[in-house]
Amino acid sequence: MDGNGRWAQARGRDRSYGHKAGAEVVRPVVTECSNLGLEALTLYAFSTENWTRSNEEVSTLMDLYVMYLESERQLFFDNNVRFNQIGRRDGLPPEVLDALDRMKEDTAKHDGLTMTLALNYGSRAEITDAVRAIARKTAEGALAPGQIDEQTIASHLYTAGLPDPDLLIRTAGEMRLSNYLLWQLSYAEFYVTDVCWPEFTVEELHKALSAFKGRTRRFGGVV
Ligand code: IPE
Ligand code: MG
Repeated sequence: MDGNGRWAQARGRDRSYGHKAGAEVVRPVVTECSNLGLEALTLYAFSTENWTRSNEEVSTLMDLYVMYLESERQLFFDNNVRFNQIGRRDGLPPEVLDALDRMKEDTAKHDGLTMTLALNYGSRAEITDAVRAIARKTAEGALAPGQIDEQTIASHLYTAGLPDPDLLIRTAGEMRLSNYLLWQLSYAEFYVTDVCWPEFTVEELHKALSAFKGRTRRFGGVV
């Protein structure tokens, strides 16, 4: 969900105005993904690198996550959306952790769209955590090194149980991964739009989906 800051600055407003506008866009997107019967939607909200931003911006964002999880409760219930979070818990303020845990618990039985918020997420941190957990098991003798396969690694990532993404949508025109789902995106189709996140609409979502439908996916094979 990139481009909040640029969108606001282009309008002579501060970055937090962009973040607030960006949060408003989540509702129609989640609703449409749910209506379309999609299995999973993962939104990159805050990276492990975003802590380098000013204290003011970081605290605006943290407040926004808490407010969002409160104000959008009905959305998750009306649409049978199961809420999930990926990322490190360490470093997140207790009120954010409480809001995340509560939403996760309260929607655990929903079996529609799984909406995952990547918050304090970094793919390298995730892989590091997975390697540590696997190494612990091998050191304890619970797992032989030769038994480690791709499934072992996938099941130790924060995304265990989620399908690999089919489509990555990146807003605000940036052509990079920014430490996002490095393992999981191996065969995802990329769609980059110059539209900044606060002006992303259901129509833009459909543009991305029709581009995706036009792709030939070979997964390394031959069609
Ligand atoms: C995305 O918008 C929101 C977060 C990363 C929290 P940015 O804040 O990165 O906006 P730009 O890239 O500065 O325009
Ligand atoms: Mg950015």
